[in-house]
Amino acid sequence: MKYIVPIVVILLCCVGCSLEKKGNLPLTTSRAVVTEDSKQCLECHTKKTPAIVASWRESDHAEASVGCYECHSAEDGEIDALDHFGNTVAVIVSPKDCGVCHSVETEQFLGSHHAKGGEVLGSLDNYLGEVVEGFGASVSGCQQCHGSIVEITDEGKFTAATWPNFGIGRVNPDGSAGSCSSCHSRHDFSIAQARSPETCGRCHLGPDHPQKEVYDESKHNIAYRSHIDEMNMDSASWVVGVDYSAAPTCATCHVSATPNQPKTHNIGLRLSWNIRAPVSFKTEDSDDKRKAMQEVCFNCHSPNYVENFYVQYDAGINLYNTKFAIPSKDIIDQLKEADKLDTTPFNEPLDWIYFYLWHHEGRRARNGIAMMGPDYVQWHGFYDIAERFYMELIPEAEHLMPGITGEILARPEHKWFTTELTPEEREEISNY
Ligand code: HEC
Ligand code: HEC
Ligand code: HEC
Ligand code: HEC
Ligand code: HEC
Ligand code: HEC
Ligand code: HEC
Ligand code: HEC
Repeated sequence: MKYIVPIVVILLCCVGCSLEKKGNLPLTTSRAVVTEDSKQCLECHTKKTPAIVASWRESDHAEASVGCYECHSAEDGEIDALDHFGNTVAVIVSPKDCGVCHSVETEQFLGSHHAKGGEVLGSLDNYLGEVVEGFGASVSGCQQCHGSIVEITDEGKFTAATWPNFGIGRVNPDGSAGSCSSCHSRHDFSIAQARSPETCGRCHLGPDHPQKEVYDESKHNIAYRSHIDEMNMDSASWVVGVDYSAAPTCATCHVSATPNQPKTHNIGLRLSWNIRAPVSFKTEDSDDKRKAMQEVCFNCHSPNYVENFYVQYDAGINLYNTKFAIPSKDIIDQLKEADKLDTTPFNEPLDWIYFYLWHHEGRRARNGIAMMGPDYVQWHGFYDIAERFYMELIPEAEHLMPGITGEILARPEHKWFTTELTPEEREEISNY
């Protein structure tokens, strides 16, 4: 008898709640809390751009009273400020704007190579994109990954050559670098999405930096795909070995927290080598960075396993450097010094041959080793490098300057090309 009264009260409450929800917000179970400032934005945008509002309603921002106005408000006089139905708004919500509330993430991001992704103007690749291919290729290609320098017309609109753009190092009208929405898509800003490999694969793929494809063929991706339901992808806390343990994604190894390390928006802090340069080199404080990455692995692998993996990694990078990359670079430098190659890039066959060797094939092999994709190490990697080196670079260099490769080809690792090896010599070059 004494339970009946409370039960009736609870039942009445439930009916009341659900009626109220049905009355005010049909079709949604939103947790959104709307501020006075954002109220009028919402009233109009619910009709004008319903999908934006729907997506925002399901976000943590909506629950935390971060509405349209909290992100898009601008001060009069700001270069990209628009007079918008009596309010001053800006379309671009830059890292500076996000940084008002997320200062830690923003500072880490601004200290990373990602924030410098727009600074490619002087690079060889940029000459290729803008001059050899043509400027339109750069606008819809390079700049969509690296970032544009956003420009504004006299009427206050962004120029079509520079926006829309979500490049990682975009230079914004307020002078800040980068775009958080490269990884955090609007308007739900889903944390699960940021942690998924597809997010990084938007840019980290293709013939010259196939991190996504390498990951796809790795055991790690196999484990991730088959256990995706156990990955806890949208949990607020995401510590490897604590909140999930089935598999690592890109974020696990490069961004997210471990039991002993906080998460970081500086994606370079766990890298001991730079493996995208023509000749690989160790990063600054390389040992500390390697320890930081290994601490990620130790949650799932034994120390011996991880240490041996790193021995294999170093051996592969050193092989690429000493056998192919440094000799190729020496040959190119000598030909330039002797005026056998001019200073204009990409106008002679050897320019292209060398570019393929380090920029495409060389990076494929090195990334394949770093992230456990054996097909990229072999058939998309060292196989292509070897063919390029012996069948194209050496003959073309000899054609331009006879005798130039003699000393290099006499080395033990290249001797097979001109002279049959003795069993002892064969044995010697197979030592690991
Ligand atoms: C009376 C209706 C109305 C109100 C109120 C309103 N908007 Fe809009 N908004 C629009 C329409 C319509 C568009 C489509 C482009 C246009 O006409 O400017 C738009 C476009 C935008 C854009 C993109 C502009 C561009 O040039 O691409 C942003 C950002 C925006 N609104 C944010 C806001 C915010 C923030 C608020 C509240 C401070 C707000 N809006 C209030 C109707 C409204
Ligand atoms: C957490 C911050 C945040 C909140 C909250 C937010 N926006 Fe945005 N919004 C962004 C970002 C980031 C962009 C992308 C701008 C860019 O870099 O080009 C954007 C873009 C837009 C655009 C242009 C999109 C397009 O595809 O044309 C409109 C319109 C817009 N927002 C409206 C709204 C409205 C309406 C709300 C409220 C329901 C809202 N925003 C809430 C961050 C936010
Ligand atoms: C007015 C303050 C404010 C602004 C501006 C703001 N945020 Fe947030 N953001 C919050 C709050 C509050 C939360 C919820 C609590 C938390 O996770 O810190 C949040 C949560 C998040 C989350 C976690 C979401 C989840 O599902 O766990 C991401 C990612 C995020 N914000 C990214 C951004 C980005 C990117 C921008 C700029 C485009 C931005 N925020 C602008 C206040 C803000
Ligand atoms: C699909 C996205 C994408 C496109 C398109 C793209 N890049 Fe990149 N670029 C990247 C990524 C990702 C890296 C980092 C690769 C790595 O670390 O292995 C990179 C690296 C570079 C680097 C080396 C930077 C450094 O710090 O060493 C330069 C320079 C560069 N790109 C210029 C260009 C130019 C110029 C174009 C157009 C001709 C272009 N990229 C097209 C994604 C892209
Ligand atoms: C290279 C992709 C990338 C970029 C760019 C990026 N983030 Fe993130 N961000 C992530 C990932 C991955 C996570 C999830 C980390 C984890 O596992 O907890 C995250 C998490 C967050 C969170 C949630 C933090 C928490 O613990 O709840 C916030 C807030 C955030 N980012 C803000 C930003 C801001 C602001 C920017 C721009 C300055 C930015 N991010 C740029 C990938 C990125
Ligand atoms: C919008 C494109 C884009 C996205 C998305 C992106 N990156 Fe990058 N990333 C780049 C570019 C471009 C570079 C090279 C920047 C430079 O050095 O100029 C880079 C460089 C890097 C580097 C090398 C950093 C260093 O210090 O040498 C790592 C590691 C990296 N990204 C990891 C990630 C991860 C992990 C994600 C997803 C969570 C991600 N990236 C998402 C474009 C992107
Ligand atoms: C199991 C952990 C792990 C996963 C998962 C992983 N990486 Fe890596 N990544 C590494 C290691 C280890 C290195 C080499 C570190 C070193 O040099 O010490 C590396 C190197 C890199 C580099 C540096 C290339 C350069 O220019 O020097 C980039 C970029 C990168 N990873 C991006 C990604 C992306 C994108 C994904 C997902 C598609 C991913 N990684 C998944 C462990 C991982
Ligand atoms: C969240 C757990 C987790 C993390 C973190 C992790 N791994 Fe793994 N790793 C696995 C699983 C699961 C497998 C698959 C084991 C199997 O198939 O029996 C695997 C397989 C491997 C393999 C075998 C690859 C193959 O194709 O056979 C290597 C090598 C490896 N990991 C190295 C590393 C390194 C190095 C790191 C750190 C940079 C790392 N792992 C981080 C879970 C993890």
